[in-house]
Amino acid sequence: MRRPLVAGNWKMYGTCASIKQLLNELTEQDLPDDVDMAVFPGLIYLQAVDALLAGSGIALGAQDCAVQLEEGAMTGETSALQLKDIGCSAVLVGHSERRQLQDETDGVICRKFIAAQAAGLTPILCVGESLAERQAGQAVAKVQQQIDAVLLELGVDVFNNAVIAYEPIWAIGSGLTATPEQAQEIHAQIRAHVAKYSATVAQGLRILYGGSVKAANAAELFAQVDIDGGLVGGASLNAKEFSAICRAAGN
Ligand code: PGA
Repeated sequence: MRRPLVAGNWKMYGTCASIKQLLNELTEQDLPDDVDMAVFPGLIYLQAVDALLAGSGIALGAQDCAVQLEEGAMTGETSALQLKDIGCSAVLVGHSERRQLQDETDGVICRKFIAAQAAGLTPILCVGESLAERQAGQAVAKVQQQIDAVLLELGVDVFNNAVIAYEPIWAIGSGLTATPEQAQEIHAQIRAHVAKYSATVAQGLRILYGGSVKAANAAELFAQVDIDGGLVGGASLNAKEFSAICRAAGN
């Protein structure tokens, strides 16, 4: 059985005050004990959030890391080892906003994936097609290409310690959630693709859905056999919403 994971991607939102309030509210909610939970604050808040999460059972992750593992002359970058050092256990790699806004290529994302694992962090590899790609019938091909950039380069076993997040770009922040059937179809294709290389790895691999997940649609999405939780943006900034989504992932 795969243990569900619900991850809150806070993106570039929050202030010292609002983050403190959010975490205070979140830890007061009824949180499930059969679901892994994690939050991904902006870089400058990681340490403060780490302290506020103490004893909560909620893990800490970062939204990005440098391609280079060791410290060095890379102004503005943060290495996976530094993230590990301050208490992170996971890092997002290849979020579509970074692919689009920072021109991150599959090659760069693969190097970040390597750095994350080398530092002892769990990479959450984000993949997903644009609306144009979906309309052209290329959703599966696009997602496979993004996964193959890691899988074919590093081998299937790296997915023993990684998570894949399927986030159709057209569903992110748009209110247009993929239907449970649309999401399940891609999740099943992802698992089948990984299974071509190792059925065992594919069986254990957690595949999260992301894109306008909210309390109102989470249960239906998480009821799908190949959806193992969610990567939640907007709704993770609301303690009641996020905790309800976490509960929906449990039994
Ligand atoms: P959303 O974002 O839930 O606000 O659509 C998801 C994400 O980008 O990870």
